[in-house]
Amino acid sequence: IYGSVVTPVDPRTWKALPRCLMAVGSTGNIDWMLDHVEENKLAEALSQKGYVTGQVVYLKDGEFIIPGFIDTHTHAAQFPNLGKGGQYELLDWLQNVTFPKEAEFADLDFAKEAYYDVVRRSLDCGTTTSCYYATLHLDATKILADATSRLGQRAFIGKCNMDRKGQSPEYYVEESAEKSLEDTSSLISYIRSLPPISSHASIGTAPEPLVQPILTPRFAISCTSECLNGIRDLADRHYRQRRHPNEPRIRIQTHISENRGEVDYTLQLYPDAHSYAHVYDMHGLLGDTTVLAHAIHLTDDEIRLIKERNAGISHCPTSNFNLRSGVAPVGRYLDEGLKVGLGTDVSGGYSTSMLNAIQNASIASKVISMKIPPPSVPQEIPHPEAAVTTKQLVSPPVTPPSELAESNARFANRQLPIQTLFYLATLGGANVCSLSEKIGSFSPGKSFDALVVNVLDERGAIGVWGKEAKLDGDLEAKRRKLEENLERFLFCGDDRNIQKVYVQGCLVGGRAFGK
Ligand code: GUN
Ligand code: FE
Repeated sequence: IYGSVVTPVDPRTWKALPRCLMAVGSTGNIDWMLDHVEENKLAEALSQKGYVTGQVVYLKDGEFIIPGFIDTHTHAAQFPNLGKGGQYELLDWLQNVTFPKEAEFADLDFAKEAYYDVVRRSLDCGTTTSCYYATLHLDATKILADATSRLGQRAFIGKCNMDRKGQSPEYYVEESAEKSLEDTSSLISYIRSLPPISSHASIGTAPEPLVQPILTPRFAISCTSECLNGIRDLADRHYRQRRHPNEPRIRIQTHISENRGEVDYTLQLYPDAHSYAHVYDMHGLLGDTTVLAHAIHLTDDEIRLIKERNAGISHCPTSNFNLRSGVAPVGRYLDEGLKVGLGTDVSGGYSTSMLNAIQNASIASKVISMKIPPPSVPQEIPHPEAAVTTKQLVSPPVTPPSELAESNARFANRQLPIQTLFYLATLGGANVCSLSEKIGSFSPGKSFDALVVNVLDERGAIGVWGKEAKLDGDLEAKRRKLEENLERFLFCGDDRNIQKVYVQGCLVGGRAFGK
């Protein structure tokens, strides 16, 4: 592939490469990548690598390639509820809107129709990897795993554990901890026996198949201690019996500290715990393959604990606004060195698109930055050498959240830069789901999970304004235009701009798919 590519490097940096040459091998991995090749040197560069020009796919004017989005938190069974229920806060929303819909997935015909549609939509929005919650039903969750496997989306699939009586409605609660764990085991076996959809489903240094199970205790409120301990034992047992030395511990996902009422109630149900994070920790569920959604109201001790355990955080800003949960201090988490990615949290969040998560993550960071009193009131400051006073703007003290954050405060209390937002939706998410060696950015050996974006689509929001100026030979101007087009795509683009979606080198979605 020859053309414009943007790839994240770290939370502050991306590489915008207007003349990148990248080779994707038959395994779906990136074989090699040259950051910059002049057009008149293309044939030479190719022949050195043993290729000919006829093998090259040329990106058009207005097209560029970025890594696919990684949705680190979403509920597949809540897609049929999109846009409903935003008048409630979390616990009432679960009872009144969410549990009734999830209960419908006992009907496998409904599940099949819904889940294939979910995966199709998610792929077309540019999500190449998704961490899915299904429902408490084993058979319906198997259907979700089938759908991702058949449609070619990289995914983690979890059956919710919800065995605590009295917390979930009678019509939507598991029989016992034992049954919950038994079904979870069955799901793991089922997903691990899914046929690879292509010849290259498990390649690379670690066996990381396209579709994998993820342990999903819904949240502390919906589980008993017995169930949480059983989930830890399951993870331990699978780790002891791992089939490959590089196989990571099975992933775990759950919710944490989303809503103040939820936090209080959790601490009432677990009186021995010092904090919400401690509930998970005392059951052995906080580890480096754990994905914690929301994490809005964490205390300093909880942040320290999560950092110590190297668990990841899924920031779900659309949902956090929509359910009036709060604003997560993501800049602070980045300063503290926590792993952070983004999630749509459908249907707490009302959009299936990670672009919307990016936009709301930007707004969330701006809301936090505006809480600091703006330095707009001029203060009278005596001039040191004269009896005159000058009006001078004095910046308010920015209170850093902790000593560590103070020593390297870069993101806290500020609006997040575009590069950071892009990172969170890609490489940050890959880190959170322990797959950063394989996905989230482009480099040799990584999977080609990618989007071909076209900002010139005449029905899109950017259209003709994304056109490249006559910039022959001016690489720097081309780079700026590319960065500008990416920024505009992130803020006002949508699925009309996503031409092609690749997972492990296979075309699996986008507007050009199936045409
Ligand atoms: N906490 C427990 N379950 C849920 C859920 O389905 N959505 C959200 N946003 N929070 C939860
Ligand atoms: Fe959620």
